[in-house]
Amino acid sequence: MRFDIITVLPDLLQSPFAHSILQRAQKKGIAEIHVHNLRDYSESKQKSVDDYPYGGGSGMVMQIAPFAACIEKLQSERKYDEVIYMTPDGVTLNQDIANSLSTIENVIILCGHYKGIDQRIRDIYVTKEISIGDYVLSGGELPAAILVDAIIRLIPGVLSDETSALSDSFQDGLLDAPIYTRPVEWRGHKVPDILLSGHEAKITAWRHEQQLIRTKERRPDLLND
Ligand code: ADE
Repeated sequence: MRFDIITVLPDLLQSPFAHSILQRAQKKGIAEIHVHNLRDYSESKQKSVDDYPYGGGSGMVMQIAPFAACIEKLQSERKYDEVIYMTPDGVTLNQDIANSLSTIENVIILCGHYKGIDQRIRDIYVTKEISIGDYVLSGGELPAAILVDAIIRLIPGVLSDETSALSDSFQDGLLDAPIYTRPVEWRGHKVPDILLSGHEAKITAWRHEQQLIRTKERRPDLLND
């Protein structure tokens, strides 16, 4: 899967993809991440990409021309399944959205800044608008990194044990059961006996029960859907 991310802060997106699972996915050739500096597509001498809002108001608005130039160049090179704009007024990211995006080939992700982007970019180019939650960040870069991470770990072959993505919290609509590793006892706090029993069926049943208890306590909304 290929990701093309358009941003005014390309440096901010170097590190998040250079470690662990995301780095391995790129080395294996399963995921390609290309970060484009929006300023490279500005026609102005100062490489500016924003201007004052029509109708007045505070904050600057990102202009259509640089985004259009970058998106159209990419679209002339290959077909894109989605052009996603990261914005707090998009649909809230969840595991179903990540699952569905992990099956596509090529995606462009737009990162906004300042007050936002000219509405015409959204009307003309954007096919999906995604928020990472009901709070406002300074720009779309960290949300884009979160989206890319959530997607890449789901692509077959990325995780060495493929079942581990399938057993993530939310994959079956429930939160995860508690997990433990050595030592068996820490300052009087013991690992539940059932996990030491070696009885696979009982352990599976216990884990499922724990998932239900945890989900009911912490996220009852997941059980009502
Ligand atoms: N840009 C700023 N805040 C955001 C959010 N919560 N989700 C997605 N993009 C954003």
